[in-house]
Amino acid sequence: MTNEALISVAQQVLLGNYRSAPLVFVEGKGCRLTDADGKSYLDLCAGIAVVSVGHSHPELSRAIGAQAAQLMHVSNLFYNERAIELGQQLTQRTPFSKFYFCNSGAEANETLLKLARRYHHERGARGDKARTKIITALQSFHGRSMGALTMTGQPKYQEGMGPMVGDVEHVPYGDLDALRAKVDTRTAAVILEPVQGEGGVVAATTEYLAGTRELCDDVGALFMLDEVQTGYGRTGRFLAREWSGVMPDACALAKGIAGGFPLGAVGLREELAHGLPPGSHGTTYGGNALACAAALAVLRIFDQERLVENAERVGVHLGRRLDALAADSATPAAVEARGLGLLRGIAVADAYDPAPIIADVRRRGVLLSIAGGNVLRFSPPLCVTAAEIDEGVAVVEAALKSAKPRS
Ligand SMILES: Cc1ncc(COP(=O)(O)O)c(C=O)c1O
Repeated sequence: MTNEALISVAQQVLLGNYRSAPLVFVEGKGCRLTDADGKSYLDLCAGIAVVSVGHSHPELSRAIGAQAAQLMHVSNLFYNERAIELGQQLTQRTPFSKFYFCNSGAEANETLLKLARRYHHERGARGDKARTKIITALQSFHGRSMGALTMTGQPKYQEGMGPMVGDVEHVPYGDLDALRAKVDTRTAAVILEPVQGEGGVVAATTEYLAGTRELCDDVGALFMLDEVQTGYGRTGRFLAREWSGVMPDACALAKGIAGGFPLGAVGLREELAHGLPPGSHGTTYGGNALACAAALAVLRIFDQERLVENAERVGVHLGRRLDALAADSATPAAVEARGLGLLRGIAVADAYDPAPIIADVRRRGVLLSIAGGNVLRFSPPLCVTAAEIDEGVAVVEAALKSAKPRS
């Protein structure tokens, strides 16, 4: 069936809650996707920073197939070998000593919220000494379930969904004074993204993250990072926290962790391990053998192909190309290059509408996404080459050059 025929069926049977572009993809290999009409695209979006090792990586496909043939799921009524191995691997590759597995970024952030409150509760912070306040940033994005949605500092996502979860407050991102004014002995945790992805690819400074850590320590609050978009090599380090050296108490992961297979995770410091005692939290599928086998394959591929190093090296190249676009007077629609590693964006001037620009880029055979309403976001597979980046940036440049200001 053609794109058009498939989309007409989709419109009848799928809920219209997504603004999907009119393309149906049927195959992928590395950084290339093929649609139902047989047209090939350079994928610099990677399913929103998910397809970390590229499409249909043979090692990942093999591992998923082999695990599916051996054992997929037993629930957390029992242990499975793959979850144990993945926990071992992640405790070796990060400073966290315990891991909890779930299925998505929103679920990982729900876990951070519940862990923060319950941790203080377990330590006796109850009654008028209860610590329930959660502080997150404006323009943040933490997911769509009610807790994660409440944490998300963008009212447009919350419209008509209220009431939100109680005692969650937002502060301007990057503003330590604003945070200082809110953090107090009622605060359970401050939860931040090291780079705000959906908010427009805005990176926190080391001073901000270090200052937040200090403010939290001063009042006994926890400091947690949402690394759902930035983690797992995306910024050229296994975790984006490594750039600042700041150690959070816990961190949420998802997206690229299993290369496209749904899996979320929370890593935590040993001291927090008693924060979620037996029976206090969980999910049926969390850490199932199939998802964990996929995540283990992703780690093997990272090592074999040095993909985190590639993300740093090719990320620097992408950054230079975007800086040049922002500085080029022939592309007045591009005003500012932002980001870290292979999570980067180029902000579009107010005078231009980014939607037709991204649609033009797509017609020319390159896939990107929009973040923060006005930023063309690049989040390619971590195996992308400098030549593929050059190919994509040339297409973006051509689209920017032919963009017309809003009338
Ligand atoms: C930083 C961050 N946190 C959480 C989420 C939500 O993840 P999921 O869509 O897997 O629930 C996202 C998704 O874009 C994200 O970027």
